[in-house]
Amino acid sequence: MPEDADKSGSVSRRKFLASAGGAIAAAGVAGGLLTKTDGAAVPKPVDEIDDVEGAVDVKLRVNGKIYNLKVQPRVTLLDALRERLQITGPKRVCDRGNCGGCTVLKDGKPIYACMMLAVDAQNSALTTVEGIGTPDNLSELQKQFVEHDGLMCGFCTPGFVTSCHAALKANPKATLEDIKRACAGNICRCGTFNRVFEAALAAAKKMRSA
Ligand code: FES
Ligand code: FES
Repeated sequence: MPEDADKSGSVSRRKFLASAGGAIAAAGVAGGLLTKTDGAAVPKPVDEIDDVEGAVDVKLRVNGKIYNLKVQPRVTLLDALRERLQITGPKRVCDRGNCGGCTVLKDGKPIYACMMLAVDAQNSALTTVEGIGTPDNLSELQKQFVEHDGLMCGFCTPGFVTSCHAALKANPKATLEDIKRACAGNICRCGTFNRVFEAALAAAKKMRSA
């Protein structure tokens, strides 16, 4: 029986998250584990995005690192990140600007990576959830997502974390209404909205008192 199991042999959700060493939490909040369990994201065939006729040089700055790529001009930023750079925190869910799963920051502002071409993302500082915190070094916001059970399947979580991170950076005194507005472009099919909002408000409070 696992150490955290009760007499019936069950393990509480909170203890399960904790016992995973933050990995599950980080999966949602930092994109790490979902790299491996990312079942809903359908990989694009390499020849759709790779060095084929018409490919152009693209230089992207992601999480402080420079990447030189050759991709077709029609390749989206999301595909460049996920399929070429294996930066899989941003999720492909709707692939058409409806869900917010692919949210990344472009010069600090949230954008849908599925709605921007990689060529148009050059000359900008891009930040994905991996750049906000890592499983071993979660940001305060990510810690509060864990603390408040702000994720269920976790698929939407990188997008929510990214949107909330931008909101708190812009306004450390963000109110519930501010957080809701910041997350207006993010959808959670598991219905964790209230816990996401609680996590963001708790993070704001902690960050203000630090
Ligand atoms: S995958 Fe980009 S908004 Fe849904
Ligand atoms: S936690 Fe499952 S979609 Fe949001």
